[in-house]
Amino acid sequence: MRVYFDYNATTPLAPEATEAVVRATQDVFGNASSVHHFGQQAKAALDGARSAVAALIHGDPSEIVFTAGGTESDNFAIRGAAEALEPSGRKHLVASAIEHEAVLNTLRALARRGWRTTLVPVDASGIVAADRLNEIITDDTALVSVMHANNEIGTVQPIAELAAIAHAHGALMHTDAVQSAGKIPVDVRSLGVDLLSLSAHKFNGPKGAGALWLKRGVRMLPILTGGKHERNRRAGTENVPAIAGLGVAAQLAAEKLEREGARVATLRDRLEEGILRAVSGTVVNGARTPRVPNTTNISFDRVEAESLLIALDLEGVAVSTGSACSSGTLEPSHVLKAMGLAAHRTQNSLRFSLGLYSTEEEVDFVIGVLPRLVEKLRSLTRKPEPRPA
Ligand SMILES: Cc1ncc(COP(=O)(O)O)c(C=O)c1O
Repeated sequence: MRVYFDYNATTPLAPEATEAVVRATQDVFGNASSVHHFGQQAKAALDGARSAVAALIHGDPSEIVFTAGGTESDNFAIRGAAEALEPSGRKHLVASAIEHEAVLNTLRALARRGWRTTLVPVDASGIVAADRLNEIITDDTALVSVMHANNEIGTVQPIAELAAIAHAHGALMHTDAVQSAGKIPVDVRSLGVDLLSLSAHKFNGPKGAGALWLKRGVRMLPILTGGKHERNRRAGTENVPAIAGLGVAAQLAAEKLEREGARVATLRDRLEEGILRAVSGTVVNGARTPRVPNTTNISFDRVEAESLLIALDLEGVAVSTGSACSSGTLEPSHVLKAMGLAAHRTQNSLRFSLGLYSTEEEVDFVIGVLPRLVEKLRSLTRKPEPRPA
């Protein structure tokens, strides 16, 4: 049996999205900027996808800018807003301490160019406290960036409350919704944000396609300069097949949102409760609620996460230690560290993330194999009993 419980790293393409990618690759080769029939065909494919993505997040199609994924959307949001606001003298950027590297490393890069940057801490359950943002923000702050859902522990942040604080100080509010779009309802108006990032491959669309929702009227400078694509907001000939796949994936996600969310939450809870019951010395990291329905992050006492990950892989089970980008290294998770967890708990945690094709049989299989693997790893590291004198 092969079990894929790493949906937060990436998801398999939905057959309908594959079909859209293949059809557009074969039949829609025109350049969407061309005025002739072939160009208009490509533009129609983009327009369809733009409407589907806008519908998923309750935005207007004119506010959607297609990008090459979540990383580019985050870069565009932060760099584009920072550059646009620089002449106004606002040279301070704020993000939460548990952001994805796409945000954290962009802030670090801007800090090297003279921007003042501050990370808002989170509490022990991985939630950003509004009063901490209130202490940090100033009238020089250009942008506040706080992710909607965390990729490692799944906690959902109080974005509307944080956005109100940002706006009270004249700052823009960005949210990285890469791990929430397609999993829970996302409504840009009720979140009260100015900028929102999403990525197709996290909700059964193709890799290398994403979008930045840019509230009408917000002034941004493009980070890719060139032609007049995407209404002068993102230069470069659009990747029509990938964007067509993104559109179909967005439509599917919107249609299934409620039903799938409830189904996956039931599976995740079954997995979580099953593991906690079957394996001693286990604890869930992060608030149990509010949380996206597909994610659980569990620490296993006296087990090195990498070893357990490999042992599970040998049994056919794919999971992850913290964020995918840092797997392969023994770096403790920056998210668990920011929550103030003890060092051993930041290094012995596994992330199980479920999705569209996850089943009860898979959940029960994982609960079945884990106790033996954990016991074996623990016995290898157990200190021998002292010999009787
Ligand atoms: C929260 C978050 N933001 C951004 C990204 C980057 O998205 P992409 O892989 O589309 O560049 C990821 C990917 O893991 C993510 O989880």
